[in-house]
Amino acid sequence: MDFTFYDLEGEKHCDINHRFVQPPQVSYFVTTVDIKGNVNVTPVTMGTSFAPPWYYVFCLSNLFVEDWDGAYRDGVKQGYMNLKENPECVISYYGHDLVRESWIAGMPIPKGIDEMDVAGLTPLPSKKIATPGIAECPVNMECRVIHSLKVGSRWTLYTCEILGVSVQSDFVARDKTEFQGMGVLGIDPVFEVKIAKGDTPETSAMRLYYNRMDFDKLERCPEDVGCEDEWIGSFSQWLTDEQKRGKISAEEHREIVALEARWAENRDPVANGEVRRALTQKLRHMVRKPDV
Ligand SMILES: Cc1cc2nc3c(=O)[nH]c(=O)nc-3n(C[C@H](O)[C@H](O)[C@H](O)COP(=O)(O)O)c2cc1C
Repeated sequence: MDFTFYDLEGEKHCDINHRFVQPPQVSYFVTTVDIKGNVNVTPVTMGTSFAPPWYYVFCLSNLFVEDWDGAYRDGVKQGYMNLKENPECVISYYGHDLVRESWIAGMPIPKGIDEMDVAGLTPLPSKKIATPGIAECPVNMECRVIHSLKVGSRWTLYTCEILGVSVQSDFVARDKTEFQGMGVLGIDPVFEVKIAKGDTPETSAMRLYYNRMDFDKLERCPEDVGCEDEWIGSFSQWLTDEQKRGKISAEEHREIVALEARWAENRDPVANGEVRRALTQKLRHMVRKPDV
């Protein structure tokens, strides 16, 4: 198989299509407030949430700033400036019905002018922070920045603790039935996929393209591999369930357990290579596709 290698180390121009690295991501608004109380809304896609259900964190990597001298000028991201002054924000997922408003909010609107007013959106008072959310957005997450890291000369990576989330109650109810527990996917979110000019005279301006989820293409992972009651489980639970399923016999189960114990004694791939190979072979056999 032939591969094209792109060396991405350090900060330099590279002609890779960055979409090979950064997949389409769900879009959201980041609302911030400056020290004078002016609200700003930035549409963003870079970033995501992780760590639920114990601790809710949102990592947000955006807000370009190059050689910023601290003064406002056209092109300096206002969200970035506001988070420096006031490290809290509301992250609001929007659905397909707000595509126009999202595009308008991304326009170079002068600092201090509220994008919500310009785009016709409604502020939603927050419960835990002073920064408002957006009433038209089904999900509003109130966040406090707990860490920020300058990445290269252009980017800041924010880690935010999500302090609370307001979900439109209609979506909470429909999530249990219609949306099958898929949460934010029920709002018909949009994914930023590319920025380009179109092919016709009517579409010759530079525009962002969104894509949407196709629920008809929802797919379950293979039924013949994995635990019954947990999606990952433990190694021993996995073996037990594969045996129940008939993928391994009781004898093979015992052999795998014994091999795993011998491998755990010494995980050196050379000195204990034979055990490693034997265990790998047994596992490959266990996850084989069933004969059709
Ligand atoms: C859907 C969408 C996604 C965007 N994603 C990002 C992003 O991840 N990072 C970024 O710096 N700018 C992003 N932008 C561009 C900013 O929103 C835009 O530069 C905006 O004018 C900055 O606003 P601010 O100066 O009020 O913060 C995006 C724009 C849109 C419409």
